[in-house]
Amino acid sequence: MRRPIVAANWKMNKTVPEAAEFAARLKGLLGPSSKAEVVVAPPFTALSAVKEILEGSAVGLAGQNLWHEPKGAYTGEVSAAMLKDAGCVYAILGHSERRKYFQEDDALVNKKVKAALGSGLNVILCVGETLRERELGETHNVVRRQLEKGLEGLGAGDAGRLVVAYEPVWAIGTGKNATPEQAQEVHRFVRERAGELLGREAAEALRIQYGGSVTPENSSALLSQPDIDGALVGGASLVAESFYAIINSIN
Ligand code: PGA
Repeated sequence: MRRPIVAANWKMNKTVPEAAEFAARLKGLLGPSSKAEVVVAPPFTALSAVKEILEGSAVGLAGQNLWHEPKGAYTGEVSAAMLKDAGCVYAILGHSERRKYFQEDDALVNKKVKAALGSGLNVILCVGETLRERELGETHNVVRRQLEKGLEGLGAGDAGRLVVAYEPVWAIGTGKNATPEQAQEVHRFVRERAGELLGREAAEALRIQYGGSVTPENSSALLSQPDIDGALVGGASLVAESFYAIINSIN
């Protein structure tokens, strides 16, 4: 049995007071425990405020990105150890917005994955095809490449600290989610590929989140698919009540 994991990716949203208000509301709604693992990824500036409020709750913190070098002259960047120090349990890596706007390729994502794991963070590795790639029938090739290169050098021993998020780029922020069947088909493929890369047992235990326009309205149908083990939520995670409704839609 895989414990579902639902994560809020706030992207570049929320000031410290706004983040603090969300954290207090979510803590109140969730209570001390939750059937699903719940994770929130605020902007770096709000990590410490959110951590303080979520103390004693079941909600974990994630960084939205990191730089793979341990320290030094990398103006504007944040290391894995800094995220860990700020209270993060996870790092979201390889998000399509990082790939698109900041030219992150699979080799760089792989360095970041290794840096995160090396610093004791768990990783949410994002993969997913663009609309054009889907239309060209390239979905499996793209996802396979992102997995193989992103996870290069990792073994079965790392799998327990890894979550994969399948996020079709055409579904992110568009209001056009993949159908449960479309998502399940790729999730199954991800699990099979993960089996070849990390071993069958690790792949069966691997949690694979779906991301891309997840809402309280569509989450239940998506999350009831056999290989969908949670959600990575952007827009609908900005309001505590709607994020909570998504967590609660898990049967
Ligand atoms: P969305 O974003 O829910 O707003 O589509 C998801 C994501 O980018 O992780």
